[in-house]
Amino acid sequence: MRDAFERPFRDLRISVTDRCNFRCTYCMPAEFYGERYEFLPKEKLLTFEEIARITRILLKLGAAKLRLTGGEPLVRNNVDRLVAMLAKLDGARDLTMTTNGYLLPKYAQALKGAGLERVTVSLDSLDDEVFKKMNGRGFGAASVLAGIQAAEKAGLTPIKINAVVVRGVNDHTVVDLARFFKERGHIVRFIEYMDVGNLNGWKMDKVVTADEIVAMIDREMPLEPVESNYRGEVALRYRYRDAAGEIGLIASVTKPFCGDCTRLRLSPEGQLFTCLFGTKGTDLRDPMRAGAADEAIEAIIRKAWGVRTDRYSEERASVTEPRRKVEMYHIGG
Ligand code: GTP
Ligand code: 5AD
Ligand code: SF4
Ligand code: SF4
Repeated sequence: MRDAFERPFRDLRISVTDRCNFRCTYCMPAEFYGERYEFLPKEKLLTFEEIARITRILLKLGAAKLRLTGGEPLVRNNVDRLVAMLAKLDGARDLTMTTNGYLLPKYAQALKGAGLERVTVSLDSLDDEVFKKMNGRGFGAASVLAGIQAAEKAGLTPIKINAVVVRGVNDHTVVDLARFFKERGHIVRFIEYMDVGNLNGWKMDKVVTADEIVAMIDREMPLEPVESNYRGEVALRYRYRDAAGEIGLIASVTKPFCGDCTRLRLSPEGQLFTCLFGTKGTDLRDPMRAGAADEAIEAIIRKAWGVRTDRYSEERASVTEPRRKVEMYHIGG
């Protein structure tokens, strides 16, 4: 499949739930998502069978990478059963998950057994004061580190660590985070704070740029750039000059990568989004539940990808009208 700018489709990101046990300030600010917030009711969620069916069709249409996200994917009951179903589908692919890590001690082994290859764990700071504030639920870094350890033990490797950097919040702890994981051999990817959704109060002056992050780390531990692993890789790579190990920078704000964007996102209730900053998805659930055959589902998907002109990160500076965007926890990162 090629979109309107000739971009192929390669990556499928499947959000399995809009729920999360964290309330990260940049994603689900606790003041909006309190105890009484109504998440999607169960009957609106795609069943595992429905997700596997759509995935089977998308594998045929070119998906080479599958990533489970949320919300927090591990709060969906028995998600390892879904992993096992996806692992059995025909077609070569990389099968991974992005998680906040809190529930990994409980599930890492089962996920590995079900066929998950590796995980990416979000951890914004090792400083408890800072991290507790950022995750909005007062969890210390140790709870996530225990999850990372469980993933190591289960062989869900190579493990990547995602850290969103927000100015004045955790930027002073970036070097510590890099050093800690350099010593442990995991790749930390520092993510520029993005204006996903409409509720996180994003402002450009809270973005710490990838160049600034590289400079901060380079001062303490000299870095040099490395070629991308493949065209369309999201992270810019740097390696340490003096030892093994590398970091990644996801510079979606200052160095947008829309030109090579091959990602399609499936929301928990069965809508396809062709951009992280989309306003509207293409529904697959109702046609499926009305009995549509695979060919009909495939035609809907082909059409949605064929007309795709999304390039929000490249247009950001020129967007003047406020637009209603889907929230990050709804379609995954
Ligand atoms: P691997 O290299 O295969 O591990 O995955 P990846 O590079 O796709 O990384 P991952 O899926 O962990 O993405 C890291 C983060 O980058 C996400 O959680 C998002 O915050 C951000 N990101 C990923 N894809 C996009 C995208 O298409 N657009 C924008 N603007 N940000 C993205
Ligand atoms: N800006 C940048 N990254 C974000 N993430 C969630 N919200 C934002 C945002 N506003 C990251 C999470 C996680 C991944 C799924 O996306 O920290 O690592
Ligand atoms: Fe939950 Fe991830 Fe959003 Fe944090 S970033 S609130 S862990 S979905
Ligand atoms: Fe892809 Fe949209 Fe992100 Fe650009 S802003 S890289 S089109 S998801």
